[in-house]
Amino acid sequence: MTDVQVRDGGVDQGTGYGRAPQHSNNTLIEVGPGTACGELMRRYWQPVAVSSDITTVPKKVRILGEDLIIFRDRKGRPGLLYPRCMHRGTTLYYGKVEDEGIRCCYHGWLFDVEGHCLDQPCEPNHGEGHREKVRQPWYPVEERYGLIFAYMGPPEKKPVLPRYDVLENLKPGQEIHALMGGFGSTGDGSFDVLPYSWLHMNDNVLDPFHVQVLHSTFTGAQFHPQFALMPQVDFTQVDDGVYYSAQRTLDDGRHVDRISHWICPNIMSVPSIFLESGPSTMVSWVVPVDDTHYTQAFATIGNQLSGGLKIDGSYWGEKTEEERQRVPGDFEAQFGQGPASLHSEEHLATSDRGIVMQRRLLERQMKVVAEGGDPVGVSFDPAKDVVHVRSGNFFRPSEAAE
Ligand code: FES
Ligand SMILES: [Fe+2]
Repeated sequence: MTDVQVRDGGVDQGTGYGRAPQHSNNTLIEVGPGTACGELMRRYWQPVAVSSDITTVPKKVRILGEDLIIFRDRKGRPGLLYPRCMHRGTTLYYGKVEDEGIRCCYHGWLFDVEGHCLDQPCEPNHGEGHREKVRQPWYPVEERYGLIFAYMGPPEKKPVLPRYDVLENLKPGQEIHALMGGFGSTGDGSFDVLPYSWLHMNDNVLDPFHVQVLHSTFTGAQFHPQFALMPQVDFTQVDDGVYYSAQRTLDDGRHVDRISHWICPNIMSVPSIFLESGPSTMVSWVVPVDDTHYTQAFATIGNQLSGGLKIDGSYWGEKTEEERQRVPGDFEAQFGQGPASLHSEEHLATSDRGIVMQRRLLERQMKVVAEGGDPVGVSFDPAKDVVHVRSGNFFRPSEAAE
């Protein structure tokens, strides 16, 4: 934080002249292999694709600073591989998918979804005795909630793929929908990948005050109009993260406690933005693509997001630049922070308590991982795979909304 002298010898200070160079807290932003945050992220399953998007045509995926390809073999198994073929390095992006895996276009080496080399057609006996020495780098994947999750950490530390209680025990007729892209920031599908750090969106989830300003009063109501009431807010640290409780007494006399839970390191569950009563019906992951890009994966009960969200009568992608200036939303606020925020010039205040708790927890968990421990929230016991999500809009029982 810059120490600003307002007056010095009668001359007003604090102009832009001569200010010190500012910097980001790279510990929280850098996600490549070997970085503190990257190693923490790699200890959790991360969504890499929507299941239904992955076919026998390979797709490129960039995640945690790594370029990979993803495909589904003809038996239906998804595979996530390092793309440079272990023979002489052309990309498997141009490979042909077969029953057992993907065959490189150059000399036909065949790799299964776990990187085993099954065939080397130009070698004597199809490479028998040689092909076992070759393994195409791969990552374990599992499918749940319509998403493909990858585990990119040390193999011996692979946790169970979590379930989230708010997405389990569906009522008859309900189903989970999965989506990836910029819906959390623009409200529509304008971006597959957002052009700034994952931390911007991660900060946003523990920021109930911007709901009152950015979304409700600065430009008019983007979500429920009663978010215009300044809430009474508490932040609470729990074992696996931080949640806020934003309390309001609505004009009709009902009292609502809006709880939003952030789960280490990049998982969030935002309750209904239209103040529908009850537990949250979504879980979302802010997936770092690299240090200055992210994408967001959503698993929701019902098809909540795919229609997009109009703000001030139009979708984000339809608005002119001037309209976005007049009616800014999350994208404008976060894009406005730059590709990576300059943390050294932030002035965190009481409304940022949740963000401070969150960043401290992240940094503590990075240290735990660096020292060889297991970070919060990972389970290695298949019988303990359910995560309790606290988020929801909870009305006082005596005044509960239907
Ligand atoms: S480069 Fe892939 S088989 Fe030769
Ligand atoms: Fe927001």
